[in-house]
Amino acid sequence: MSPVIRPRRLRTSPAMRRLVAETTLAPRQLVLPMFVAYGIDEPRPISSMPGVVQHTPDSLRRAAEEAVSAGVGGLMLFGVPGTAAKDARGSGADDPDGVLNRALRVLADDLGDSTVLMADTCLDEFTDHGHCGVLDGAGRVDNDATLDRYVAMSLAQARAGAHLLGPSGMMDGQVAAIRAALDAEGFTDTGILAYAAKYASAFYGPFREAVGSSLQGDRRTYQQDPGNRLEALREVRLDLDEGADIVMVKPAMGYLDIVRDVAEISDVPVAAYQISGEYSMITAAAERGWIDRDAAILESLTSIRRAGATIILTYWASEVAGRLG
Ligand code: PBG
Repeated sequence: MSPVIRPRRLRTSPAMRRLVAETTLAPRQLVLPMFVAYGIDEPRPISSMPGVVQHTPDSLRRAAEEAVSAGVGGLMLFGVPGTAAKDARGSGADDPDGVLNRALRVLADDLGDSTVLMADTCLDEFTDHGHCGVLDGAGRVDNDATLDRYVAMSLAQARAGAHLLGPSGMMDGQVAAIRAALDAEGFTDTGILAYAAKYASAFYGPFREAVGSSLQGDRRTYQQDPGNRLEALREVRLDLDEGADIVMVKPAMGYLDIVRDVAEISDVPVAAYQISGEYSMITAAAERGWIDRDAAILESLTSIRRAGATIILTYWASEVAGRLG
């Protein structure tokens, strides 16, 4: 028995494998999500995400410089306001002196156009009930009233210097509302990275600690059911029609089929978010010696690229960009 066709021939040496490699991963494709907290003197570790911290304004600036020097494609900023600053409408979100808008101004000033500065455009970090929108009298998330809040937040972020806004609340019409408001105020160059297909995932658990979320209930009236695929395509088409500049799928690893589907219909770049739970699972298994950390990280990112994302948000962006060189 001697096979004529031998795929192993193309795997015989590192040089041969390099020659035929189909998927590339470059630092510029990686975006680093970062947390900046109000009222802390030292960076504060996030226990469920070992290696990730809530930054002080100073440590944020240093870490941002490092990430940019390592060659990452961009930074995605999340604000962690003090509990006292949270209220039912998430007022801190559009307060020019709120923790996120302040940090955006500082980074925009430090970094200029050397990187792409992105901001999470969502209320959950700023509301006392932890939902991504404002509530109606019956305690339900009120879609259209929330759009008004997103518009105010977007304008504050654009004024603070964000290049791309990341509406992550899954409200209907959010991209159109934000686009219209930006244009009306002359921010025609400020782009929208739409969280187009975002699932109600159990894997966001560590993130909720990261932003000190006080969520009551769940997000299933706005985020998608993990079992649905057609719904993701519909969400993406709507966001494309509403003017999204980039569309994102989130989480990444459990949803690589969706990433592939979206890559096939999208004529704008496709991003995927390797979320907190994905980070923490790999980190925890590696800490126990159960998997090879560095190899697992690269494999996870390569898989997301292979599925069709050209931009990946990952808490390892800085480290991996440094490693890839
Ligand atoms: C909502 C938002 C969430 C994440 C990013 N933006 C949390 C949620 O929807 O509950 C999760 C990111 C992660 O888990 O790493 N503002």
